[in-house]
Amino acid sequence: MASTRRPLIAGNWKMNGTLADGVALARAIDAGARTAGWTDRELLVCPPATHVAAVAEALKGGPVHAGGQDCHAKASGAHTGDIAAEMLAAVGARFVIVGHSERRTDHGETDAVVRAKAEAAWRAGLIAVICIGETLAERDAGRTLEVLSRQITGSVPGAATAANSVLAYEPVWAIGTGKTPTVAEVAAAHAHIRKALAAQMAEAAGVRLLYGGSVKASNAAELLAVADVDGALVGGASLNAAEFLAIAKAAQSG
Ligand code: 13P
Repeated sequence: MASTRRPLIAGNWKMNGTLADGVALARAIDAGARTAGWTDRELLVCPPATHVAAVAEALKGGPVHAGGQDCHAKASGAHTGDIAAEMLAAVGARFVIVGHSERRTDHGETDAVVRAKAEAAWRAGLIAVICIGETLAERDAGRTLEVLSRQITGSVPGAATAANSVLAYEPVWAIGTGKTPTVAEVAAAHAHIRKALAAQMAEAAGVRLLYGGSVKASNAAELLAVADVDGALVGGASLNAAEFLAIAKAAQSG
């Protein structure tokens, strides 16, 4: 891993927990990260939208960042139920996840929509965590790398830089299933992603590539040691502070 890519361990809480649960979880992660005193890795938690302000407030001044799980492409307007990137930024978010497979599936988000959301994140001064990944059917058909190329071309705006974007590779079949690709498969996918990014942006070598899909404390060290894996996007295991901190501990710096 190039020393310029500081590992990022990100928790995607999805639609889980009350406000009180979220604030307590954030405080526990903040306390653990302060004790560890890490300066060579970054931690991020992405709570449900209703919790972002309180979680960001609880994390203020500490080592853990807060982020959103989604944003609308527009800054304001008649979009019932949606949230603008500017709104997330105003309450203390630093990052926003865009194009998660659950958004692509549940809300029909296309590559073009995801790309517009990444641009919206930048407009608001947020770092976009752009998600890509193949379905089981695509994997079984031997089309994983082709799908990743298509999603990168479609979802990653041409103006992406190492400072404004993070890529997350999340095989859809590995999310919440306890299944993960082999280390060799993760290495091949990440090498391919880096190469595909290099074809469309100058700073591809500096962009952090996260792996996501059934990451837990027991497999984190193995996955985070893979070349071109610069962190993790963690779902279920990020809802437990000790487990999430153990994953962060397993990250390889520089
Ligand atoms: P799990 O870690 O629960 O498999 O979820 C991964 C994910 O979707 C993170 O965005």
